[in-house]
Amino acid sequence: MMEHKWQTKHWHIHNVVDKHVDNLISHPHVQQAASWINRDEPVAFPTETVYGLGANALSDKAVQKIFTAKGRPADNPLIVHISAVDNLAGVVDEIPAQARLLMAKFWPGPLTLVLPRGSQVCQSVTAGLDTVAVRMPAHPVALALIEACGKPLAAPSANLSGKPSPTRAEHVLHDLSGRIVGVLDGGETGVGLESTVVDVTGEVPLLLRPGGVTQSELEEVVGRVEIDPALSYHLDSVHNTAAFRPRSPGLKYKHYAPDGEVFLVSLAKGVKAMRRYIQECALRDREQGYSVAVLTTDDGKGFYVADLVISLGDRTRLERVAQRIYAALREADQAQIQRIYVESFPTAAVGEAIMNRLLKAAQGRMLEP
Ligand code: TXA
Ligand code: MG
Repeated sequence: MMEHKWQTKHWHIHNVVDKHVDNLISHPHVQQAASWINRDEPVAFPTETVYGLGANALSDKAVQKIFTAKGRPADNPLIVHISAVDNLAGVVDEIPAQARLLMAKFWPGPLTLVLPRGSQVCQSVTAGLDTVAVRMPAHPVALALIEACGKPLAAPSANLSGKPSPTRAEHVLHDLSGRIVGVLDGGETGVGLESTVVDVTGEVPLLLRPGGVTQSELEEVVGRVEIDPALSYHLDSVHNTAAFRPRSPGLKYKHYAPDGEVFLVSLAKGVKAMRRYIQECALRDREQGYSVAVLTTDDGKGFYVADLVISLGDRTRLERVAQRIYAALREADQAQIQRIYVESFPTAAVGEAIMNRLLKAAQGRMLEP
């Protein structure tokens, strides 16, 4: 059975004092992980966004194993991770001027660029598309691993397909234990949501997935950036129709969803109305025998009566909120919660990415108080 193929190794590396990339390359755990990757076995590793499951992007056999381990649909392409712009030779065919500007400003960092595909990238990475997604992660362990392997790494988030992305090595082990050789544990990831994805193959850059780098930050560098119409908030009703087929193939699948049913509650009538409504729903559901969790912020924690109340931190510090969301959804699963009510956030800055992921976790269910 796939599940029991490996005694998955947990390689601790977060307690290393000197986290410079050059020193980490020779670390025995990084070397071990790299040698497995060079034998075509995928390994999980930390990035500044979420944990990734990495394999040699030039080996079809290796990349296939990522899809198998995650249960990922074959038509959903992967992001290629590099440690230096020089690594792009053969990976991409051409670097448009706007792409160069964005790389100079945001790499290493949570920005993925969709570029014309190079000849060396294997078919399964791009799912047959003539473009390839690439990024340079800003995490010393990720950079050291790529350097130690000496090749670009194809890496999706290291979760079972459809589940919330892992922000800790324990999340990776929960989903993929027995299915992969090992995970490099670099502690909790910083951003907590996946990278921003921008297609730079056209005249005007197109935002395919919001993330840690915001639209206005991109526009400061390249002027106007358009948004993929598939990202509209009523995503669920439109995203599989012909008119709104997302350019980013991954967007059409169920995503970030815990086992419990998620309900996102609108902020349109204000925080007070949102909270009163959630509490009413929670009471009603609990009377009917459901276990209920509420995801709120520090200022709302004392307000709710439910089986589990999780604070995502200070409501005004959206970056901290982003970092905690996936762990909170997983915590609700651990507690075997059946219904999870989640408060909305303003869509300014990283709030855009937060609401994008929450709406998907809720499979499009947005309740209006
Ligand atoms: O932060 C991240 O990006 C993390 C870490 C591990 O780097 N990775 C990640 O990978 O989120 P994944 O596979 O979970 O998401 C990749 C997204 C998918 O929505 C996929 O459809 C899209 O990027 N994508 C990949 N190649 C593409 C392409 N050629 N054109 C358009 N979208 C593409
Ligand atoms: Mg993913």
